[in-house]
Amino acid sequence: MKAVLTLAASALLAAFVHTAAAAPASQKSIKHGEFLVGYGNCNDCHTPGWAQNGGQAPRDVLLTGGGFNFQGPWGTTYPPNLRLYFQNLTLKQWIQKARTLKARPAMPWWTFRYLSDRDLADMYAYIRSLGPAGKPAHDWVPPGQDAPPPYLKLVLPPPPQVQPAEH
Ligand code: HEC
Repeated sequence: MKAVLTLAASALLAAFVHTAAAAPASQKSIKHGEFLVGYGNCNDCHTPGWAQNGGQAPRDVLLTGGGFNFQGPWGTTYPPNLRLYFQNLTLKQWIQKARTLKARPAMPWWTFRYLSDRDLADMYAYIRSLGPAGKPAHDWVPPGQDAPPPYLKLVLPPPPQVQPAEH
């Protein structure tokens, strides 16, 4: 009898944990994620037309990638479609990614260091709440190879010397 009860209790617990994991993110979390994405300027590069329209885009275009593409000594880079990108990541994978990411220019990957895991979870909740839309952006094109326009061509001075930051 005791064993049956324990079994029933663990089945209940498993059901609860499962529901909790699959529960939709709270509005508060989504709102804060929207704020972080807005203030983190993610749309500048990841949303087509955002900068040209003074920071506006229809919802179905938000974060669909290839807003500003960049060409420089690293080749040509195309900001990925974050709405598709986030569909394929669990929250755990996203946090892991954000903590270890080193992307090519002009992705400011170092800005994630200022965000807590909670912030990253809110960002994840917001981007996932937009749902999948658009097509995947073009892949990175290595230097010296033909890359489809449009892109911003950057002619850069050598970077100033800095002491490595302690982070
Ligand atoms: C100045 C332009 C710019 C801004 C601002 C920007 N990105 Fe990016 N992002 C890029 C480019 C370009 C790439 C592709 C880099 C590459 O090909 O290595 C990229 C790549 C990424 C990737 C994929 C990394 C990988 O290799 O798996 C993620 C995730 C991402 N950006 C998220 C964000 C988020 C979130 C923000 C806002 C906090 C943001 N980006 C702001 C330009 C930008």
